[in-house]
Amino acid sequence: MGRVVLDHVTKKFDEVVAVDDLSLEIEDREFLVLLGPSGCGKSTALRVIAGLEDPTSGTVTIGDRVVNDVEPKDRDIAMVFQSYALYPHMSVRKNIEFPLRTRHVEPADRQIAVNEAAVALGLVGLLNRKPAQLSGGQRQRVALARAIVRRPAVFLMDEPLSNLDAQLRIQTRAELIELQRNLQTTVVYVTHDQVEAMTMGHRIAIMNDGVLQQVGPPQSVYERPANLFVARFIGNPPMNTMEGRVVDREGVRAVEFEGGCLPLDPAHAAAAEASGAKSLVVGVRPEHLAFSDDGALHAVITVVESLGHERHLICRLTDGQMIIVRQGSDVPRPAEGTAVRLAADPMHLHVFDAVTERRIDPR
Ligand SMILES: Nc1ncnc2c1ncn2[C@@H]1O[C@H](COP(=O)(O)OP(=O)(O)O)[C@@H](O)[C@H]1O
Ligand SMILES: [Mg+2]
Repeated sequence: MGRVVLDHVTKKFDEVVAVDDLSLEIEDREFLVLLGPSGCGKSTALRVIAGLEDPTSGTVTIGDRVVNDVEPKDRDIAMVFQSYALYPHMSVRKNIEFPLRTRHVEPADRQIAVNEAAVALGLVGLLNRKPAQLSGGQRQRVALARAIVRRPAVFLMDEPLSNLDAQLRIQTRAELIELQRNLQTTVVYVTHDQVEAMTMGHRIAIMNDGVLQQVGPPQSVYERPANLFVARFIGNPPMNTMEGRVVDREGVRAVEFEGGCLPLDPAHAAAAEASGAKSLVVGVRPEHLAFSDDGALHAVITVVESLGHERHLICRLTDGQMIIVRQGSDVPRPAEGTAVRLAADPMHLHVFDAVTERRIDPR
């Protein structure tokens, strides 16, 4: 059983609180991604699960055992790091076999296990090479093969793709998804890359400053970010956010800010009122803004970024605030310098309390 439970785990390094009261349940056979900016405590959380760091407080459970006092090698886990940490003098076969040798597995069983791992990772033709004779992607696959060869209950991966170039990263990402599906093991995968998180995770756990911000399936985190940090962290280009107050505009409740005004649907307006928030932040993703003759926002297109399949229009509101619009490349490219009016799809507005930064859902 590869269930992993962190219960109120805190890890301090002197005065630095690297992980702050983290509670998280990772299901057996789940692919959970720990996502957050550099320094937010992802690696520390993973190392606590691995037993490479002792938590300052809290408990770690793997399967049905509390493992706080269990040595890393006895936790039924395998860890893959960003640096592949292969033994340079050993062949690929010997590298993959290494964890089995240290556990005194019989040679015949070792051979079977190594061959299976090599097949799973497409390394059959490379078993006699040394790491120096491999590409970066091949080395990373050897590191993965070495991790899976013991069939541990849980894989812990710390940014395993970040040393690969962009194309190889996409390919290896898909291979990892397949591998997890085939092996049916639990994976806890650390990354700062939201695309990896969105594409790989059954669920994403987003951290900031050691604190867990939100856990959920990628699409629901994208559609309903729990707070402003998550709203701004997930999505590329990022969500546009404007801070303002609720006002009455000809009978319609709207959020007014320096660069314009956005009408709220009645359910959102009621929820904002009931929350008692003095000031709100409205968020709208770039794909939910469109040109409209009676659009509430007046803007000037300052830069048009063409990405081939889509465009990003960098616009400025009347107060100079930047707002980004995503546009398909199937419509004519607008000229830079054009004055436009933008409408936001009211069904896709996000509303947050400007002080607590928490999401306010429509009622
Ligand atoms: N061994 C350590 N000693 C002191 N501080 C550490 C140590 N490991 C991590 N930290 C600090 O803990 C915080 C979280 O680090 P880390 O878990 O590596 O973040 P991430 O993996 O999200 O980039 C950072 O402020 C980092 O400097
Ligand atoms: Mg890290």
